[in-house]
Amino acid sequence: MKSTHIIMDRFVLALLLVLCLCVWCYGEGDMDVTPMEKTEKAALYNAIQGFVGNWWNGSDLFPDPCGWTPIEVLLLTSQASLLLHCYMSNLLLPFLAVLGADKGVTCDMYGGLWYVTALNIGPIHDNSLGCAKNVEFRPQLFELKHLKSLTFFSCFRSSHQHPISIPSNGWEKLSSSLESLEFRSNPGLIGQIPTSYGGLMKLQSLVLVENGLQGDLPRNIGNLTNLKRLVMSGNWFTGQIPDMFGELTELLILDLSRNLLSGYLPLTLEHLTSLLKLDLSNNQLGGKLPREIGYLKNLTLLDLRSNNFSGELTKSLEEMYSLEQMVLANNPIGGDLVSIEWQNLQNLIIFDLSNTSLVGEIPESIAELKRLRFLGLSDNMLTGNLSPKLATMPCINALYLNGNNLTGELKFSALFYGKLGKRFEAWNNSNLCYPFGLMSTSHIPYGVKPCQADVTLLEPSSETKLGGQNLNQNSNSMASLGFSSNSVVDGFCWFLPMVVLLLNGLII
Ligand SMILES: *[C@@H]1O[C@H](CO)[C@@H](O)[C@H](O)[C@H]1NC(C)=O
Ligand SMILES: *[C@@H]1O[C@H](CO)[C@@H](O)[C@H](O)[C@H]1NC(C)=O
Ligand SMILES: *[C@@H]1O[C@H](CO)[C@@H](O)[C@H](O)[C@H]1NC(C)=O
Ligand SMILES: *[C@@H]1O[C@H](CO)[C@@H](O)[C@H](O)[C@H]1NC(C)=O
Ligand SMILES: *[C@@H]1O[C@H](CO)[C@@H](O)[C@H](O)[C@H]1NC(C)=O
Ligand SMILES: *[C@@H]1O[C@H](CO)[C@@H](O)[C@H](O)[C@H]1NC(C)=O
Ligand SMILES: *[C@@H]1O[C@H](CO)[C@@H](O)[C@H](O)[C@H]1NC(C)=O
Repeated sequence: MKSTHIIMDRFVLALLLVLCLCVWCYGEGDMDVTPMEKTEKAALYNAIQGFVGNWWNGSDLFPDPCGWTPIEVLLLTSQASLLLHCYMSNLLLPFLAVLGADKGVTCDMYGGLWYVTALNIGPIHDNSLGCAKNVEFRPQLFELKHLKSLTFFSCFRSSHQHPISIPSNGWEKLSSSLESLEFRSNPGLIGQIPTSYGGLMKLQSLVLVENGLQGDLPRNIGNLTNLKRLVMSGNWFTGQIPDMFGELTELLILDLSRNLLSGYLPLTLEHLTSLLKLDLSNNQLGGKLPREIGYLKNLTLLDLRSNNFSGELTKSLEEMYSLEQMVLANNPIGGDLVSIEWQNLQNLIIFDLSNTSLVGEIPESIAELKRLRFLGLSDNMLTGNLSPKLATMPCINALYLNGNNLTGELKFSALFYGKLGKRFEAWNNSNLCYPFGLMSTSHIPYGVKPCQADVTLLEPSSETKLGGQNLNQNSNSMASLGFSSNSVVDGFCWFLPMVVLLLNGLII
């Protein structure tokens, strides 16, 4: 009996609390306690209409776009869920996300009035308004005088029916406020980056990912010396990386991947000594890897894969002590591995030099990389015997050596093959073999033949030949099996580092 009483009491209390809060919410709604300058409000509504359509009259932003900002502060402190219910029933906000940094409109108070500080356009949440077919930038967007953050996500969608360019004028009005500007996944956003972006002096983050943008990268982006993040991946940018980018000495992330950039790496990049991530993968960049790249001592990610770099590895790579991921695959780099002191790179986790025209032997110094999980050396012209020490790396989880000209006996244990499974590849090394004794275990490397010396012990030459042929056929089918699984396994191996990358990206 006593316990039900307590429950009832609590129920009544909770009910009262809900009522109380709801009354409070209504009260908040009735009073216009959060005045917004008329011109600011008009500019906001007009700008939003340009993106979502004229039908939108802001009636769902009751009593005004920022009216609920103080409620949100309260939300974080107490009774979050109760208040949320109450709040939701009053203001159904199709355009705005209720919580989190990525809601539609965020405001802040300046001199007793509310001003818009962040605007997120596009279907960020299920209940966000999408952009209209005839979406347009209206000049009123630039009248938001305290706008710090502007994001467009999947807003300019059709590159065929209604392609649209970034307006070249107006941005200068945001030059003393805008800190973050993002266009993500807007295939219908075409044309060049306006040169006026070079005047957004407060900008710390410029993100232009997966749009239809084209043309040269504007030189004067190099004027934005407060930039910490510059991401322009997945567009159609052409031409060279401007020398001026070397002025961005605060930069932590530079990602120009998946474009059509060509020419050499500017030597001025050596000034970007704060850089943590440099991703220039999937472009047409060429020339030698400059020695100056070794100055980037804080770099954790260097991704230059799928370009046209040549002229051997530069020895200064061995000075990039912070590197965790070095991915240079699919470049005609050439040269050898032996001249570099790989053991210096004790932070290396992913090391991918597949398909880089390497010759010579695989140096034992690589086996000293204590954190290495992924070693990709496939599709080169590497020769010589493999050091059994490679199997002693404590973290090694994927080792791709296929498509080389390695020779001799593989001296790894059955246990090692068992641990790596299909993440060990050594096929298409015609003079490589595994010890015959290994055949008695279930762990033999795919597509590698048992060593001849052992086979000849079994005498008649004709039978040996037959056996050899059978094995060859066998190994072929296994090789193709191994090949198809390769990409899946690769994906898996990339998963963890990618998560780390993503998280880092979010933090910054
Ligand atoms: C705003 O639009 C809604 C429909 O979307 C309509 O019901 C409402 O009357 C309009 N309000 C004003 C002030 O025009
Ligand atoms: C960028 O800086 C250069 C000098 O480095 C200057 O001449 C130019 O006017 C600046 N551009 C802008 C848009 O501020
Ligand atoms: C490199 O990283 C270290 C440690 O995080 C930091 O103290 C140093 O300032 C960084 N160097 C540059 C040039 O940013
Ligand atoms: C790659 O670089 C070589 C010179 O090293 C050049 O001859 C070739 O045209 C380049 N290929 C592409 C696709 O840029
Ligand atoms: C190997 O790299 C070259 C560029 O050097 C590229 O054209 C080719 O597609 C790559 N091969 C594979 C299998 O990725
Ligand atoms: C592989 O090495 C052998 C000598 O060990 C040599 O005869 C052969 O030409 C090489 N093959 C390739 C494709 O480099
Ligand atoms: C092995 O290399 C040969 C060419 O030397 C190629 O035809 C074959 O496709 C390769 N095997 C696999 C499984 O890729």
